[in-house]
Amino acid sequence: MEWGMGLMMMGICLSLCWYYKMRENIERNRGGVPKGNLGWPLIGETLDFIASGFTSRPVSFMDKRKLLHGKVFKTHLLGTPIIVSTDPDVNKVVLQNIGHIFVPAYPKSIRELLGEHSILQMNGNLQKRVHALIGGFFRSPQLKTRITTHIKNSVKITLASWQDMQLLHVQEETKKITFEVLVSVLMSVGPGEDLDFLKREFEEFIKGLICLPVKFPGTRLYKSLKAKERLLKMVKKIVEERKLAIEKTDRKGIPKDALDVLLRDSEEASENQSLPLDFIGGNIIEMMIPGEETVPMAMTLAVKFLSDCPVALHQLMEENMELKKQKKDSGEDYNWTDYLSLPFTQNVISETLRLANIINGVWRKALKDIDIKGYLIPKGWCVLVSFISVHMNEEIYQNPYLFDPWRWEKLGAAVNNSFTPFGGGQRLCPGLELSRLEISIFLHHLVTTYKWIASEDKIVYFPTVKMKKKLPIKAETLEVLSPHQKGATGNGICTIASKQ
Ligand code: HEM
Repeated sequence: MEWGMGLMMMGICLSLCWYYKMRENIERNRGGVPKGNLGWPLIGETLDFIASGFTSRPVSFMDKRKLLHGKVFKTHLLGTPIIVSTDPDVNKVVLQNIGHIFVPAYPKSIRELLGEHSILQMNGNLQKRVHALIGGFFRSPQLKTRITTHIKNSVKITLASWQDMQLLHVQEETKKITFEVLVSVLMSVGPGEDLDFLKREFEEFIKGLICLPVKFPGTRLYKSLKAKERLLKMVKKIVEERKLAIEKTDRKGIPKDALDVLLRDSEEASENQSLPLDFIGGNIIEMMIPGEETVPMAMTLAVKFLSDCPVALHQLMEENMELKKQKKDSGEDYNWTDYLSLPFTQNVISETLRLANIINGVWRKALKDIDIKGYLIPKGWCVLVSFISVHMNEEIYQNPYLFDPWRWEKLGAAVNNSFTPFGGGQRLCPGLELSRLEISIFLHHLVTTYKWIASEDKIVYFPTVKMKKKLPIKAETLEVLSPHQKGATGNGICTIASKQ
């Protein structure tokens, strides 16, 4: 019996190996498919890929293959044969997506949780329309003016609470600021029971984004789908109340949130173009996904990199102290342009985003054969547009593992194609400017109020970027320090980010 089972298993393995060899030969004969290795049957090179995510250099998986096969290579990850691009020019073409050849390709658990009508999965004209509406609103000076006061208050309340804390975790604290702001720009829910409910259920919902795609009671995916149902129920009520309010009042005023933007557009559209209320409610929830973890992680990693680079922290503090003084002397309140006007602060943010790689790349699927720079991407194949490989490429960024905000004084716009923390082309993050504004406000009030000592902690890159211990710090207000103690800590040398 055991022999029989053994032979059967061997037979299956041999057939799979034969199948994969055949497939590799077929692709080679078609010509132009990037070189590479599809790895083991079924699992491909997934184990190596995941293992690199647990090291301080997650890009080593790409680097090794880039050296062997070139900047664009094929592999097999998470159950899918995939072409990985580490070439900024190829990345640009895929992201621009002229001719609508590429569609987003997320793992099955994410697809299940998003639903096919989510902005993250939709394609064609509908995606363009929702993207333009939301992006236009997030970029508008009216929103920025209003949200600046909100962000500033939220930052100040959180920072004030640090005074009574012996030790605090930056990754937790920054989430308190950003979740409230996110829910406010999306559907104007302020602090209270509803916000607490949204936070609780949303956390339960996103736990299932990376999990086994098995859906029956008790499984992670099932629990997350149930949380989404509860979220939808609550958001549906908000959408219906808002629709009634819009119908009763003047529709021409300034929209107060993303929900308003979608509802008004829908009201004005012809009957067959009108967006159903369920669609709007679902999209409001799904738009929380890209915004929820990214901004607090960027803030947290800025604190981490600055803690390891006292010279940069000192310069950042001086620049922001100058603004604080100007505002105090003039008696004027801050407006959004003040926060974005500080060049070194913006360079610190760019360098944080480059080094953090919070979204390390995006997955697409080709609907047709396409040739880019001589590489054939066959119909049905997935492409991983790897941002991290470009951000950590030493031909583009000297000493790529070094936190060096000064490099941006020389680089400027020259690296446009090679700096894509917010993606690019058709799906460029509509929250880009809002995120930079939030991070700028946070950094301004942080470095002009506190000095801190960070405990040892490590960045973990898999499945998403996080601090292993949530970045514990001890913070003290600057008022209690003598002037020469303010700002910089440590030995004045920036450490290499990978040696955390
Ligand atoms: C540091 C913060 C952020 C980073 C690094 C980031 C990064 C990204 C990236 C790389 C994409 C492109 C995805 C793709 O091409 O498939 C994206 C899309 C998107 N982001 Fe962000 N994001 C951030 C903050 C935000 C915020 C605060 C919001 C909302 C308030 C937001 C909303 C969106 C939406 C709705 C999309 C989908 C756009 C579309 O597919 O048309 N993001 N983001």
